[in-house]
Amino acid sequence: MNTQPLHIPVLLDECLDALAPAIGGAGAVVVDGTLGLGGHTAEILNRYPHATVVGIDRDPRALTVARERLREFGDRFVGVHTTYDRIADALASANRRTANGILLDLGVSSMQIDEADRGFAYSVDAPLDMRMDQSGGTTAAEILRDYAEGDLIRIFRDYGEEKLAPRYARAIVTARAEAPITRSARLVSVLNDATPYALRNSGHPAKRVFQALRIEVNGELEILRSAIDNALAALAVGGRLVVLSYHSLEDRIVKVAFAAASTSAAPHGLPIVPMALRAGYRLVFSGARKASAPEVARNSRAASVKFRAIERLDTAA
Ligand SMILES: C[S@@+](CC[C@H](N)C(=O)[O-])C[C@H]1O[C@@H](n2cnc3c(N)ncnc32)[C@H](O)[C@@H]1O
Repeated sequence: MNTQPLHIPVLLDECLDALAPAIGGAGAVVVDGTLGLGGHTAEILNRYPHATVVGIDRDPRALTVARERLREFGDRFVGVHTTYDRIADALASANRRTANGILLDLGVSSMQIDEADRGFAYSVDAPLDMRMDQSGGTTAAEILRDYAEGDLIRIFRDYGEEKLAPRYARAIVTARAEAPITRSARLVSVLNDATPYALRNSGHPAKRVFQALRIEVNGELEILRSAIDNALAALAVGGRLVVLSYHSLEDRIVKVAFAAASTSAAPHGLPIVPMALRAGYRLVFSGARKASAPEVARNSRAASVKFRAIERLDTAA
């Protein structure tokens, strides 16, 4: 299996610093909902000798690599093959009900992009698969074959924020009538041909369409919505959830959920807010943080990251 170049964890120190007040104690449990190659988890286990990490990934290949990398930590690491919205089940497999820290580092890993046979990269010709878990579900090629033109427009527009969505959907419908679009090189060529000359130098025409297909194939936004709610519910009092998102659609979901959780239900101006109406969570810092210029220079994945953190208060229901 090709694991080179290794995935460089994004905002590693910032994530650990944000989790620190919650995970230093004896018996602390951290859920890494996006284990990947275990970069964040390895550092958590190194820095916090009393912590156990429950590492979730939907990609069996990532779990195999991470288990090998984290073998030295013995039973302080528990790997679970599932999706990160199933956090309660993952905790149960470690005989726990709550977590002191939860980390979600969204999206795909460098390893997934580098594995040519997965079809995530528009720069490499490969079968259009794009499933993070290849044991089930619908591939990108099947979506391109089966979806009605209107549905292709919707996913390119909603998940790719692609202005040329109708034009690209039309081109795909025309091209698939000649032969199914099963490989990335053909899709790139169809998209290139459909891009007006005036726009050909404004970024790669396939970038947003590939992103949209990946989100649709993996149901990423639906899973994220329930994952944030489930993660908030799984936090112990004083526990912290940190999320790294890489595009505006993900970050919007996190921002809205965090704002709702950290807002009191009491009417404005109430002199004493009853416990039941107090916010159950507080933002660890306001807004979203970004990576520094030196980090972006070292690791291009960090360029679009938005980092948010929230803590459970003892008022949470
Ligand atoms: C950006 S990588 C994480 C990298 C990791 N933090 C590290 O330092 O090595 C994201 C990982 O999350 C996994 N993933 C994405 N969506 C998921 C989901 N809904 N449930 C579980 N794992 C998911 C991907 O398979 C990928 O391995």
